[in-house]
Amino acid sequence: MALVNTKKMFEMAYKNGYAVGAFNVNNMEITQGIIDAVAEEKAPLILQVSRGAREYAKNSYLRAIIDVVVAENPDIPVAINLDHGDTFETCKQFVDDGFTSVMIDGSNLPFKENIALTKQVCEYAHPRDVVVEAELGQLGGIEEDVVGVEDVDKHIADPDQAVEFVEKSGCDSLAIACGTSHGAYKFKSEPKLAFNVIEEIGKRLPNFPLVMHGSSSVLKEFVDLINKYGGNMPHTMGVPEDMVTKASKMAMCKVNIDTDLRLALTAKIRQVFAEKPGEFDPRKYLGPGRDAIKAMVKHKLHVLGCAGKAGECS
Ligand code: G3H
Ligand code: 13P
Ligand code: ZN
Repeated sequence: MALVNTKKMFEMAYKNGYAVGAFNVNNMEITQGIIDAVAEEKAPLILQVSRGAREYAKNSYLRAIIDVVVAENPDIPVAINLDHGDTFETCKQFVDDGFTSVMIDGSNLPFKENIALTKQVCEYAHPRDVVVEAELGQLGGIEEDVVGVEDVDKHIADPDQAVEFVEKSGCDSLAIACGTSHGAYKFKSEPKLAFNVIEEIGKRLPNFPLVMHGSSSVLKEFVDLINKYGGNMPHTMGVPEDMVTKASKMAMCKVNIDTDLRLALTAKIRQVFAEKPGEFDPRKYLGPGRDAIKAMVKHKLHVLGCAGKAGECS
């Protein structure tokens, strides 16, 4: 199957109460770990490329890796998404480069400007069969001034605005701030998501796919390995997996995961270096890192409920 956009995936995810995993890719090993898991579990897949990934690896290299993924896995529907596009020009470039989905993140703009920018991207993307994800409210992490749950709470998406935003912008899916943030330090005390807001927006926008950013669970298994083998990551906290599952059964049709990939890779590399201090063959530490990513992603696909769903999304 060629690259697809997310329309059919989201239609099926919404109807059948699961979410599709959107995994960030930065290099070959991460991408291979993800696709090996997805192929074994027969899940639909969204791969996404952030600004940091583009700066690190160059879009052309990442694109070439993703093209191999698509060619070698004809039974898996794969969409490629620009993650957190910041300008019309960036989104246009990725549409022109053959991405099937672009996110325009105008969440730091005033409401009306966010609508206008999103609309402009939709008008360019839609005739080219590319879908557009937008964002309302602000998450921590990437939106730099917003860190820590107290601040995040103040920026939860407003259901009234969500309806107006979707109607006026024409976006295909909407990332709503609901208490999550990017990275490994999502909550200061107890994890809490605004399920009431997810539910309310879901009710007011029937059949409309929502997106959850900052969905990593910051798995203890990997943080413990990192700390055991010389790392220093105290007080990490992610979104508990039962909450991710609950959101996936609601209107959240796309769940973004990056931090959990980073932690799995880092933990395994640290373990190899600690246990074999003489190791200097990158294949001997990147290989175990790739295996750890594969095992973690396989598990996530069950948390999201999309394992076994590749066929219905094709
Ligand atoms: O959206 C957040 C992702 O984790 C990407 O982060 O820009 O450091 O690649 P990055
Ligand atoms: P995490 O940092 O929780 O993995 O979120 C990633 C994300 O939202 C990418 O857009
Ligand atoms: Zn994000």
